[in-house]
Amino acid sequence: MKKILLILMVALMANTIKVKADEGMFLVHLIGEKTYANMVKLGLKLTKEQLYSANKSSLKDAIVIFGGGCTGEIVSKEGLIFTNHHCGYDAIASSSSVEHNYLKDGFWAKSKNEEISCAGLSVQFLVKIEDVTEAVMAKTKDLKPAEVPAKLGEILMEMGNKAGEGTGYEVRIASFFKGNQFLQFTYQRFKDVRLVGTPPESIGKFGGDTDNWEWPRHTGDFSIFRVYMTLDGKPAEYKADNVPYKPAHFLPVSIKGLNDGDYAMIYGYPGGTNRYETSYGVKLKIDIDNPSLVNLRDARLKAMLAEMVKDPAVKIQLASSYAGIANYWKFFDGESKQLIKHNVIAQKEKDEMAFEAWAKGKAEYDNVFQNIKAAHDAWRPYAKGRVYLTEGIFGSPLIAFMNGVKGREAQLASATQADADKAITALKATTERFMKGENMASDKNILALVLKMFYKDVDANQQPSAFYNNLKNTYGDLESDATYQKFAKDVFDNSMVLNKDKWSAFLAKPDTAALHKDPAYKIAAAFGNNFNSNYAKYFTEFQTNNFVYNNKYQKGVLEMKKGTNLYPDANFTMRVSYGNVKSYSPRDAVKYKEVCTLNGVMEKYKPGDYEFDAPAKLIDLIKNKDYGQYIDKKANDVVVSFITTNDITGGNSGSPVLNAKGELIGLAFDGNYEALSHKIAFDGQLNRTICLDVRYLLFVVDKLGGATNLINELTLMK
Ligand code: ARG
Repeated sequence: MKKILLILMVALMANTIKVKADEGMFLVHLIGEKTYANMVKLGLKLTKEQLYSANKSSLKDAIVIFGGGCTGEIVSKEGLIFTNHHCGYDAIASSSSVEHNYLKDGFWAKSKNEEISCAGLSVQFLVKIEDVTEAVMAKTKDLKPAEVPAKLGEILMEMGNKAGEGTGYEVRIASFFKGNQFLQFTYQRFKDVRLVGTPPESIGKFGGDTDNWEWPRHTGDFSIFRVYMTLDGKPAEYKADNVPYKPAHFLPVSIKGLNDGDYAMIYGYPGGTNRYETSYGVKLKIDIDNPSLVNLRDARLKAMLAEMVKDPAVKIQLASSYAGIANYWKFFDGESKQLIKHNVIAQKEKDEMAFEAWAKGKAEYDNVFQNIKAAHDAWRPYAKGRVYLTEGIFGSPLIAFMNGVKGREAQLASATQADADKAITALKATTERFMKGENMASDKNILALVLKMFYKDVDANQQPSAFYNNLKNTYGDLESDATYQKFAKDVFDNSMVLNKDKWSAFLAKPDTAALHKDPAYKIAAAFGNNFNSNYAKYFTEFQTNNFVYNNKYQKGVLEMKKGTNLYPDANFTMRVSYGNVKSYSPRDAVKYKEVCTLNGVMEKYKPGDYEFDAPAKLIDLIKNKDYGQYIDKKANDVVVSFITTNDITGGNSGSPVLNAKGELIGLAFDGNYEALSHKIAFDGQLNRTICLDVRYLLFVVDKLGGATNLINELTLMK
């Protein structure tokens, strides 16, 4: 009896201690004693050296930057990589054709020689981290504060390039705490990366955009790659006789299962947060930036989908860019809703008042918020026009392409032939990507839509009036959709970019006079020049002031909070976050379990549906309960995914979720809807990371894919 009571009390206490999610994305090499002690308290069984070591092998050696914006992890001594399906998506789509449709049907290499080389895909290992704050400050100290933001990027790039010169490494310097600290990261990039396995999209993207950013979630969001090196261990482009990469560390894979409250640790590359955003920035986001972006993306997505459902080739062609646009379309919509619901503006105002109270009498911080407010007030009238340009007009791939051509115009016309040749080579490459990746039928509809939206929604005084006057005179009523459709048709019928012979002739001998007459060029020029000549200056001013005063605010915060476990905003550098597997209550009377299972796949399954179809073989396996060693005994089912309290964001996709011993238990792939304000304000109650259970990954590889060769390559902890 007593014993039961004790257990009950401990359980209750554990619950009261652990109601808060675990804020913080910590720099792996700077995990302080306090943070480490917290990790141990939550269950961690590893030493600090095992988490990160500058010269011995440690966990960090198994973590890679995957492609341009994801994380991956090494899971075998032969360079096998796990990442998310949505991270491998572009490579999977590029490897697919209507005949070999890996996106639709999945793909499993049963031996290494069946793996598919993925041109353009690379992974990067972190070699070392150094603090270069003093060296950077030495270069900026003679600049006027207002000059720093414009020049800083270039300074960091130059310093990084110089440090990397001749080493075979890539060196990049990143700014932390809004320009108050600078760290230099040395990476080794490997370019021979091959596709090893992927489930069909009906598993890897099960639930589509309806379920995206939501829990419970039944998506098998994983894909498998392998990184290769030369015989003597160096990075190289694809070559048939390259050999699998030998890692300094790889992750063992645990199939022991998990419990509510278990320790969970995530390594990876969170892309960006802005946790010290001011109330003024949040207002601008909620009132103008987010809704504009959502409206424009909504229109573009509908135009794309209309063509994708008609033709499987178009579906493959647009799949990856559609998914990317859709992902943040839903994110920004949800972000605004949660910022409002959680009253984040009021939270920020409170922080600002506390800061002002602390800063009283410190002249350096005088008027920080007045200045930030003034910067926002000055920019606000023009903010919408900028989003409508970048997400609207340049949301038409053809016009964006033409804007790129326009950007190269001076170089094309250069008297130095070598210069002109450089521009031509670059344009040839973008032309190829554009022609392969974009669909003209959908683009034509996008153009018609966004031109009308710009006309209807943007302040009349800020529109390129000559353009719209012409349109009216030649094509008719600006209120009518037909006007824009007729015009868009003419643009696509007549642009020389879309006429193979004409465009080749242009690239062979660029004739800028002819370019200026091109109807697509004229649109890019009308809208681009309108912004550049009239509003770009306000935008630069806004960015400059924002940098200068937020840099100050952050500096003050560092001083004010000295001695606490302060972590810098995410900036796509390696971080570790820790927490627990944890259920939660999203709203009154509702409790979400910490795991969801294949039973839920069956509940959501809709044969033939665009988002909720599932492979027949999976349905059979479920019906026969053919789960093998991947079954979760408690659930008597396969656990598909689980949630943790960890603090992550976009870029962490594909990140390993590790147990207390550093074994792989899952892959982080999303955040929950109720905490979509997380980039700006972390919600200690509601924030959850959605993780694929690695046992579901193994189940699909083994039972559905039959790729036992891959299972045998892993180190399974049973
Ligand atoms: N929300 C996920 C992330 O940003 C991406 C999920 C992709 N799936 C989709 N249906 N678009 O990491």
